[in-house]
Amino acid sequence: MPSEISDTHLSDREATRHLIDEALGFVYPAALRAVATVGVADHLAGGPLTVAELAERTGTQEGSLRRVLRVLATRGVFEELDDGRVRLTTLGQALRSDAPFPARPAVLMLTDRSLWQSAGEVERCLRQGGPVFEELFGMPFFEYFAHDERAAAAFHSGMAAFSDQENEPIAAACDFPASGVVVDVGGGHGGFLLEVLRRSPGVEGVLLDEEHVVSGHRLDVEEIKGRWRVAAGDFFAEVPPADLYVIKRILHDWDDENCVRLLRNCRRAMTPGGRVLVIDAVVPRGDEPHQAKALDLLLLAAFTGRERTEAEFAALLGAAGLRLSRIVPTGTVVSIVEATAA
Ligand SMILES: C[S@@+](CC[C@H](N)C(=O)[O-])C[C@H]1O[C@@H](n2cnc3c(N)ncnc32)[C@H](O)[C@@H]1O
Repeated sequence: MPSEISDTHLSDREATRHLIDEALGFVYPAALRAVATVGVADHLAGGPLTVAELAERTGTQEGSLRRVLRVLATRGVFEELDDGRVRLTTLGQALRSDAPFPARPAVLMLTDRSLWQSAGEVERCLRQGGPVFEELFGMPFFEYFAHDERAAAAFHSGMAAFSDQENEPIAAACDFPASGVVVDVGGGHGGFLLEVLRRSPGVEGVLLDEEHVVSGHRLDVEEIKGRWRVAAGDFFAEVPPADLYVIKRILHDWDDENCVRLLRNCRRAMTPGGRVLVIDAVVPRGDEPHQAKALDLLLLAAFTGRERTEAEFAALLGAAGLRLSRIVPTGTVVSIVEATAA
């Protein structure tokens, strides 16, 4: 039982009330999505406004906006001042487009109908075992994004924002080679590879992802000029040769069979003495809350993957001719699972 609920001191009535509150929990992300969509935080960047002023600037209905802001104020995203004006709290500031680590694209990605509707159908996963995404959207997850420009833009910029707040501490915990080639497998827009190249001046980087994704890369930065290239392709077909493969938030998207396929491609192409860094959450034992346990339900409903334990990672790596050498914590929700040739 999570530590914030005391099992022994809960009456029957309190237990039911608690579950009713839990069931209502979905209104908070719905409200967060609404304010992120209409850009409320950007309009409050200059200081507090009345709800009427805010409604006019966001093109929304004053009465509805007041109610949405009131529910988010209970979660500390906005604050209603004594004179009735609304101001951004520290949480609210993170929703601004110009925040150091903008949360808005990640909020819009996580609450997009692709994930929201899939999560709403988890019950079907219980009965049939697999994801429901294909039944709802007509094709597997990543294929859908390759076909729908709007959804792809929301997903990939959301994923980049999701990762931007963690890339630096993760890169700081990694042991990069002094020279050689690092391939970021499924590296999205290249935010993590940029950190790798900044930290390792002797290294060359390759960003591997699908064509429509790498076309939006962010590697055109003076500091790393001439030390990177983009490889558009399918990581299940092949990966470019490298001294180090970084596979960040990728394996959790896929079932074991596909993970082994991808890891085998890395094993086959890696230089002698090469390494693989799998960067994913390692699910801890016990009932304490952990982001990976929540994300895992989205992986169940929308993908074919799962969040894995240390033993599950060791088994995957072993099946691909690799050996788990160590697990390094990063101070974020993910760890670095390092592997070498078996
Ligand atoms: C969950 S995102 C992770 C992105 C990035 N590594 C990060 O940590 O932010 C998964 C990435 O895998 C890419 N991907 C999915 N299937 C792929 C394939 N068959 N070949 C290459 N990239 C693929 C997606 O386009 C997406 O960028």
